[in-house]
Amino acid sequence: MSTSKKKDVKKATCLDMNDTDLVEVHAKLGREKHPPTKHFIQAPLVFVFLFGCLIFFCAIQLAHSTNNFQVHPPLPLVEMTMEEKKEKNLKRKLARGKKLFNSRCAACHKPDGLGEGLFPPLVSSNWVTTDPGIITKIVLKGLKGEIDVLGKKYGTNVNMAAQGLSNRETADVVTYARMAWGNDASEVTESQVEIYKDEASTQEGQWTGDQLKDIYKDSFKGD
Ligand code: HEC
Repeated sequence: MSTSKKKDVKKATCLDMNDTDLVEVHAKLGREKHPPTKHFIQAPLVFVFLFGCLIFFCAIQLAHSTNNFQVHPPLPLVEMTMEEKKEKNLKRKLARGKKLFNSRCAACHKPDGLGEGLFPPLVSSNWVTTDPGIITKIVLKGLKGEIDVLGKKYGTNVNMAAQGLSNRETADVVTYARMAWGNDASEVTESQVEIYKDEASTQEGQWTGDQLKDIYKDSFKGD
């Protein structure tokens, strides 16, 4: 590319040029234009590529740390063992039993189960903590006549009426009385209450203490 040729190009008009000249001139112009933009085009491509990689790795990281993009993933289901279920049910039963006791029994036997005056205590009483049939049958049918509780006589002036509770309520309140205030007896189930109800179906009116002592001799051996 001599300077003389450049001059020729400048001076020349379209009419003076043949096809070969025109092609040559355009090629020359093309070569002169492109070199400055060469790296200028590459730079943004590198940034786009790096940015793409960044988004890609962030997405992978997010997917891992958020459990497939769930911002609040559901809590893992923890299966309760039979023991845990039983314990939970017993806790609920005792809570229901406590409520019932406070509304249906506590007026006489007191909320702490210690009784007062003419009303006998339920804490450490044979009638409560030995065979579950005894307390359940008392709640089902009531109790009249003299009895001995922890060395003291009760029932000479006042007696206890049948409580008119459902089987479930009876099971709840009896279980509570057998397990509260330091009493450490077994739970009473609804189906046990059903059996005791059947057994007591021929009983007219309230039990007497002697009747129950006769049925549950083992529970009063020490007396
Ligand atoms: C109106 C007062 C009254 C209410 C209410 C009452 N009782 Fe009694 N309870 C008595 C009396 C009085 C005796 C003694 C009866 C007798 O010997 O003739 C007694 C006796 C008992 C006994 C046997 C004796 C003992 O202390 O261990 C148990 C068990 C008992 N009650 C449980 C309950 C439960 C459970 C409830 C509530 C569901 C309840 N009672 C509600 C007055 C009551």
